[in-house]
Amino acid sequence: MEKDLLNSGIHAYTRISFFLNGEAKKLEIAPGLSSLDLINKTLHLYGTKCSCNEGDCGACTVVIAHPFEGNIVYEAINSCLYPAARLHGKHLITVEGLGSDEDLHPIQTAILEHHASQCGYCTPGFVMSMFALFASIKEPDKETILAALEGNLCRCTGYQSILEAAEELAISHDPQSIVPQWCRDIEPLLFTFDTPIETINRSSESHFLIDNYYKAGSTSELIALLAAHPEAALIAGGTDVMVQVNVSRKHFKALIDLGDIPELQKISLRPDGLHIGAGVTYSQIMDSGIARCDYPAMVEIIRVIASKQIRNFGTLAGNVANASPIGDTLPLLLVYDAILLLESASGQHSLALRDFFLAYRKTALQSGEYIREIILPLPSRNAFIRSMKSAKRKSVDISAVASAIRIERDGDRIIKADLAFGGVAATPVLSTNFKDLLLKEPSLNANVIAEAVADEFTPMSDVRGSAEYRRQMVINHTLKYLEAYHG
Ligand SMILES: Cc1cc2nc3c(=O)[nH]c(=O)nc-3n(C[C@H](O)[C@H](O)[C@H](O)COP(=O)(O)OP(=O)(O)OC[C@H]3O[C@@H](n4cnc5c(N)ncnc54)[C@H](O)[C@@H]3O)c2cc1C
Ligand code: FES
Ligand code: FES
Repeated sequence: MEKDLLNSGIHAYTRISFFLNGEAKKLEIAPGLSSLDLINKTLHLYGTKCSCNEGDCGACTVVIAHPFEGNIVYEAINSCLYPAARLHGKHLITVEGLGSDEDLHPIQTAILEHHASQCGYCTPGFVMSMFALFASIKEPDKETILAALEGNLCRCTGYQSILEAAEELAISHDPQSIVPQWCRDIEPLLFTFDTPIETINRSSESHFLIDNYYKAGSTSELIALLAAHPEAALIAGGTDVMVQVNVSRKHFKALIDLGDIPELQKISLRPDGLHIGAGVTYSQIMDSGIARCDYPAMVEIIRVIASKQIRNFGTLAGNVANASPIGDTLPLLLVYDAILLLESASGQHSLALRDFFLAYRKTALQSGEYIREIILPLPSRNAFIRSMKSAKRKSVDISAVASAIRIERDGDRIIKADLAFGGVAATPVLSTNFKDLLLKEPSLNANVIAEAVADEFTPMSDVRGSAEYRRQMVINHTLKYLEAYHG
């Protein structure tokens, strides 16, 4: 298979400048090289481990420091999925940077003292997740610690001692000792960093699954790249695209990276609603005061998407464009009446999300076009909006069924009744029966409504659940919502 992909010719490489454990680096990056491969194979640092290579285990966790909204944020990410070209202008911190055998970092000391490392394969990932946590929050509570570590698996199941190490640190550590001085020294350089990224056309023979990688620095550059490379696919966080590369061995002629475009990294409340730029990550939405206050259901569903590491670079726009019928945010975006701002060389236009999903993984996005923003009109104050997902595990699991509801009243009269599901059809869908029944016969028995909703869909069976299970989940979700609504 690899041999078939042997590809001689000109390939678009990227020349990036970044900081590694306190030192400035300038490197040429082969198209689509992951940060993990860069760390292990080019930088020859072996503390960061490869296990699943698809974002599930956290063994490859490293920390990225970069400016966001006037601060330097320290975020844990899965280096197996994080394109190395995305390191441009950032500080990459690996476990080697934190401490050495002679001089352990306080997190490593806590792990040691609590016997929280068995075979040790997962340990560097846990250390880096804890580093990001304690660099961001001084005294995290147990729930916050668990959320920070949910993307790290320990096959020896040493979780209790790992948790104890983190909990003791939470009450005993000296906050000054967590972020080393060499990290603090780099922070001003990250704020003033302005070296442009370079694309270099290189003649080479390669086994790349990605032939060419272009990183857009602005939306005008992005539009020009899309027009010049109609064969290219877009990449934002890469948490779907890089899994296709690493696991499905999908070949891309070209990828255009929009992940670090400053204009797309804004989240703002305007008169027509919440505008979420295509580069805004899940974590940034969760941390946004506006989203927490006016769109709490959005924050709640994001909390159960993937892991902290994935949420630190996966985007809402990527979830929409990926158009998976089990994308967790999509039912909620449907009931929010989300609008997509699409842009191409011909200009901008808006499209209701309801008109975006055409068939299984087929969308209304035209060639040369990208999602610039997702706009969520402000719901009325009395709107009842909830979302939930059913999956086998609480975190790092794709749902079998996801759903969202919105009911709005004018006095005693229901004027809006939307119930949307993912995982029951080829696309995320709104229930017609629910709307009709609630608007016409609002006092109808909840079981009758739930059965009518379930009758509308013909879900399929797959590894995540049988058709019967999914039908039952549709009934259960509907009943739970109606029970909560009637209080
Ligand atoms: C371990 C793991 C766990 C996960 N768990 C969940 C989960 O619980 N729930 C869930 O819903 N998903 C989950 N995912 C899937 C993924 O994280 C989400 O779909 C995420 O939102 C994708 O965003 P991204 O920015 O990484 O997309 P990318 O991988 O960069 O792109 C995804 C697709 O969207 C296109 N695209 C990206 N941005 C744009 C744009 N602005 N305009 C047009 N096209 C664009 C790309 O071409 C690609 O086709 C998981 C993934 C992993 C690896
Ligand atoms: S190697 Fe498992 S998450 Fe990266
Ligand atoms: S200590 Fe062995 S996998 Fe975690």
